[in-house]
Order: sequence, then structure tokens, then C-alpha cells
Amino acid sequence: MFISWSALSALFLVYVSAQGLTSHQIDTVQQRLAEGATHSWELGTRAQALLELSAPSFSVLTPSIPLPPPPYLDSSLNDTLADVFTIARNAVAALPPPPSNGSGQPLILGDSSVGDPASIGTAVLIANWTNLGGEYYAAAATAQIQYLFGPAVLKTHDGAISHVASQVQLWSDSVYMVPPFLAYYGITTGNQSMLQEAYNQVKLYRNYLRDNSAGGLWQHIVLGTNGTDSGHWSTGNAWAAAGMLRVLGTLKSSPFSHDLKNQIKDLGNWVAEIHSAMYPHLQANGLFKNYADQNYANNFDDASSSALLAATVYRFALLTGNKKYVRQAERTRAALFAANGDPGPVVTSSSTSSTSRSSNTSSTATSSTTSSSTAPSSTGSAPGSESTASNAFASTPHFTDDGWLAPVVNPLNFVAEGAQSPEGQAFTLMLQSAWRDWSAAGSPGANVAPPGVRVGINTVVLGAVGLVVACTMIMVDGRAVLFPI
Ligand SMILES: *[C@@H]1O[C@H](CO)[C@@H](O)[C@H](O)[C@H]1NC(C)=O
Ligand SMILES: *[C@@H]1O[C@H](CO)[C@@H](O)[C@H](O)[C@H]1NC(C)=O
Ligand SMILES: *[C@@H]1O[C@H](CO)[C@@H](O)[C@H](O)[C@H]1NC(C)=O
Ligand SMILES: *[C@@H]1O[C@H](CO)[C@@H](O)[C@H](O)[C@H]1NC(C)=O
Ligand SMILES: *[C@@H]1O[C@H](CO)[C@@H](O)[C@H](O)[C@H]1NC(C)=O
Ligand SMILES: *[C@@H]1O[C@H](CO)[C@@H](O)[C@H](O)[C@H]1NC(C)=O
Repeated sequence: MFISWSALSALFLVYVSAQGLTSHQIDTVQQRLAEGATHSWELGTRAQALLELSAPSFSVLTPSIPLPPPPYLDSSLNDTLADVFTIARNAVAALPPPPSNGSGQPLILGDSSVGDPASIGTAVLIANWTNLGGEYYAAAATAQIQYLFGPAVLKTHDGAISHVASQVQLWSDSVYMVPPFLAYYGITTGNQSMLQEAYNQVKLYRNYLRDNSAGGLWQHIVLGTNGTDSGHWSTGNAWAAAGMLRVLGTLKSSPFSHDLKNQIKDLGNWVAEIHSAMYPHLQANGLFKNYADQNYANNFDDASSSALLAATVYRFALLTGNKKYVRQAERTRAALFAANGDPGPVVTSSSTSSTSRSSNTSSTATSSTTSSSTAPSSTGSAPGSESTASNAFASTPHFTDDGWLAPVVNPLNFVAEGAQSPEGQAFTLMLQSAWRDWSAAGSPGANVAPPGVRVGINTVVLGAVGLVVACTMIMVDGRAVLFPI
């Protein structure tokens, strides 16, 4: 009986570990993210990842949670939100009082980007809404709004807010940084026209960036005299889809959803448009190239954008019922969260050390690997053997030993491969929580999944049946036993 219990439990647990990240792995990814996120957009993106992972009632991507959220916190939610509050507190504490002439100021002073500091705004609004610190947070968020719409920030002739400070220039990234904050500000101030403004900004950005000659992929950077990027950067497409989805979720859960139903519909169509443009370029290995549709020598596989876009697919299925690309998202999820010789590209370090690597050495390591190497056949990352943080990623093809997603684009140089991407860590958590919520909702669209995934679902049923059988055997036996698993 012990043997059958252990065997069945092991089968069950190994299955679980091959599907999502283990809690140990999630903790490690969160830790790397906390250490790595320092730039304005990384802080805002980290805050959003933490909400999705740990405080779904404060995430606009959670369906059927009416907005605004409750204005109070129980102590457990308070603890859960501690890191989000720290992000808000650190930003606001560093600011001088807003200028009295109403011209406002950004949440991070001196940033070369206009859009990026606004990404912290949602955390600041939640801090205000839950009464963390009285007036300071409300004033800082309002100053950020005044700044964005004021004369200090450049706009296109039709009103699109420039992503950069020095010239009018639109980046696809900005769709994630600014409109979700505008929409949430509309929620916490009860102002429907701010929700409309979030939609307007998305619409303007789409008009400028969507490339009809490339099936609707978005260009990365347009307008301005220098620094443009007409390429279809995968992360930029993922930023845009994810930002639009947050606006969609906010509008849909708002008290104004009836008035805004056409806007909600448009946003859904525009997310679907990016999915339809991107997913034909998904490779068999479950990853996009850094530039999804380009085929030049140094275009590398990028796990970072692949993770975020897959997360948007699960969220999209939950928010709108559109399950069209669930099968592709499952391919990405299975590849990125693979362990222990599961099929997929192998991107391992040549070193067994768990210390951080510099970008140069890691780039070498990732770019020099090929499909020739296979992971060890041990069950090293099964939960039972994950007794320490240092081996949580011992045999995972898409994470370094110390838990960094790989391979990834350099977040500070979008044409180059990098070693450690804080935003990639956030996207990993978003993928994990999106998949988790989608699974909890009954895996809608999984019936269109490829055969390999169906085997996985059968396995979980088998594992669950095994547990029930084992428990029954124990109860029949009539003794309480501690099981050595
Ligand atoms: C939330 O946590 C902070 C810091 O730990 C504490 O100062 C505050 O009183 C807590 N608030 C609630 C509602 O538990
Ligand atoms: C408002 O005040 C700030 C800070 O004192 C100043 O930099 C800015 O130019 C002023 N804006 C206007 C429109 O006067
Ligand atoms: C701050 O929170 C209060 C509720 O506690 C709300 O009435 C107010 O509109 C919020 N301000 C902003 C800028 O969100
Ligand atoms: C609502 O937001 C709009 C901008 O979209 C602004 O012009 C207006 O003053 C705001 N209304 C209130 C009551 O704050
Ligand atoms: C682009 O030009 C602006 C204005 O001339 C300058 O401030 C900025 O540093 C330049 N950016 C790059 C990437 O060269
Ligand atoms: C990577 O290598 C380049 C030139 O080989 C050097 O300038 C740069 O500082 C190195 N970066 C790191 C992080 O080691």
C-alpha cells in the first residue's frame, strides 16, 4: 500500500510540476524580479505581476471582480500587497510636492521616457484607495495625470501622448505603461471620461503602429528624428496586447461598462488582431524570435515576449471567451515550464554554479547551445527533491540555475540578446498566474489542444484518481500513517 501511494503521488506531483511552476520556482522568480527591477517600467510591470499572482481581487484581469475594489484590506491582503505598496511608497517618497500651478509631475523625475513612470501609477492608486497614506498618493497620481495631459509633454497633432520626453515619438511599449493607468485613475476617481481617454490613447497608438503590410503586426517605434524601429518587435506586440487587455478588463468591470460596450468590443478586436498577426510566427519550439517575422542571422529566440503574449491568450479566453490561440499558448507554456528532459530547446549554462552571470558570458552560453544537448533523466526538479532554493531550477531548459528566464532580449537594448531580464521575470509570473486562473476555470479551449497536451490532461485525471484510490485504501485500512513522499 505504501508503494502504491508513493508511486501514484509521485506521478501526480511530477505531472503538476511539468505544467506550472512549483511554488519554490515561483518564489525564486519573484526574488530575481525583486532584485532586478529598478527602472521605472520594470517597477510598474513588477507591481502588475504581483497583483496578478498574489492579489487577483486587485487585478483588472480577473473577470467578475467589480471595480473599484473594496476600499479596505484585511490583514492577509495587506500582507500580500506589501511589495506593491513598497513600490508605490518608494516612488512617492522620492518626489517633491507637486507644483502648485497644476502642471503636474511624473512619478519618477528625470526619466527620459514620458510613458514609463506612469506604469507605477496603478500601484500608487491602490495605495491611495486602500488608505495606505492619505493625501500623498492621491496627489502624486493626480500630478502624474496632469503632467501627461499638460503642455510639458509632447503629443502628436491628434493627441497621442509621446512615449519619450525629447521629441514626439510613439513606442508600442507605451500601451502597457500609460492607458492602463489612465483607466484605473478613471475608476478610483469615478470619472468615465478618463476611461474613454485610455481607450482613445490605445486607438491612436494602434493607428500609428499597426502595420497592415505585415498582417497587422505592430511596429516598435515610429515618429521622431532618431531612434525609430520599424521592426515588429515581439515584446512590443506583447506589451501592446497586454496593455489593451488591462484597459479592456478595467472598462468591462467598471460601473460604466454598459456605456463603454463598443470600446470594450474594439479593444477585444485589437487584442485578437495582434494574436492573429503574431501566432503564425510562433516557432515549433514554442518561442517567438525577438522580431517575430524577421529572418536575419542574429534574430534570436525570445522567451520573454513569448511568455507575455501567451499570458494574454489565457487572460483573453477568460475575459472574452475567445479561445482561438489557447493551443499556441499551451505550446509556449509547456516549453517554458518544461523540466527534466521534456521536449523543447535546451538553453543551459555550461556552468553548474548558481551565481549570477554577466550578460556577456550568458549570451555566449545561450547562443551556443543547440538541440543537441538533452537534460539529465533524473527527477531532479520533482517537488520531492526541491528541498533548497538553489536546485529549484536544476534541470529546466528555459531558466538558468538561479531562476532567470532564458533566452531573453536585453531589456536595455532591444536588438540584442541579454542575460537577465527583470521584465521577463514579471512576464513569467504573469504566464504562471494566467495559466493557473485559466486552469481553475476549467481550461477553456483546452479541447483544441494538440495530442501531447491531451495526454497531460489524462495524466492529471489518472493522478487524481490514484490519490482517491490511495486515500480510500488508507481509510479502509483504518489507520493514520505519515507517507514518505
Ligand atoms: C498593513 O501593513 C502595514 C505595514 O505592515 C501596517 O502599518 C498597516 O497598519 C496594515 N494595515 C492593515 C489594514 O492591516
Ligand atoms: C509650473 O511650475 C513648475 C515648477 O515650479 C515649472 O517648472 C513649470 O514651468 C510651471 N508651468 C507653467 C505652465 O507655468
Ligand atoms: C483616493 O482614494 C479615495 C478613496 O479613499 C478616492 O475617493 C479618491 O478619488 C482617490 N484619489 C485618486 C486620485 O484616485
Ligand atoms: C474627468 O477626466 C477628464 C479628462 O478625461 C477631465 O477633463 C475632467 O476634468 C475630469 N472630471 C473630473 C470631475 O475630475
Ligand atoms: C535623439 O535626438 C534628441 C534630440 O536631438 C536627443 O536628445 C536624443 O539624445 C537622441 N536620441 C538618440 C537615441 O540618439
Ligand atoms: C561585454 O563586453 C563588452 C565588449 O566586449 C564590454 O564593453 C562590456 O562592458 C561587457 N559587458 C559586461 C556586462 O560584461
